Amino acid sequence: MQVSWQSLYDEIYACEKCGLCRQIHNKVPGQGDIHAKLMFIGEGPGGDEDLQGLAFVGAAGQLLTKMIAAMGYTRDEVYICNIVKCRPPYNRTPDPAEAASCLPFLRQQVALVRPRVIVLLGATAARTLLREDFRITREHGIWVEKKGVWLMPTYHPAALLRDESKKRDAWHDLQLVMAKMKELEGETDGGHDGV
Ligand code: URA
Repeated sequence: MQVSWQSLYDEIYACEKCGLCRQIHNKVPGQGDIHAKLMFIGEGPGGDEDLQGLAFVGAAGQLLTKMIAAMGYTRDEVYICNIVKCRPPYNRTPDPAEAASCLPFLRQQVALVRPRVIVLLGATAARTLLREDFRITREHGIWVEKKGVWLMPTYHPAALLRDESKKRDAWHDLQLVMAKMKELEGETDGGHDGV
């Protein structure tokens, strides 16, 4: 069943399913163009995101903003969210059970936005949506198509801040995304709704 944005956000704000919510300041559902053709999915909110209730507004977010700009978009033209909507303590990686309990929200977001292309930022997004043993170093830059949606796994911006030598590969991945967006522009078929 397709829910409305209002009921989805209400459900996210009320959720206490996995316990991450016990130590947070704010839920971070995600933001951007709710009709975007291009979506970015990260791991989970960090400290800045937790304080502001907005995805990707800290240091990694600033780099993501630059990456999006380099692709010819603004943040308002894409949709940005995370696998988990609550900050894990000490910014640890969300565990698979936490990711799984938050996943229905993400699936509903995808169903509502109906993007054509999703950029998976980092291993957690790729492991949650593609395969639990996904290796980002080996498998970034390879398209996966799921129900008409094109998924591109690439490095998380925080990983690029830690190791600048990965930026070249990440830019290559994003160029593939730009080419795919152009290719899909010509198609009349609208967005698709599942991952
Ligand atoms: N890292 C993420 O994965 N998501 C955010 O929103 C911020 C940092």
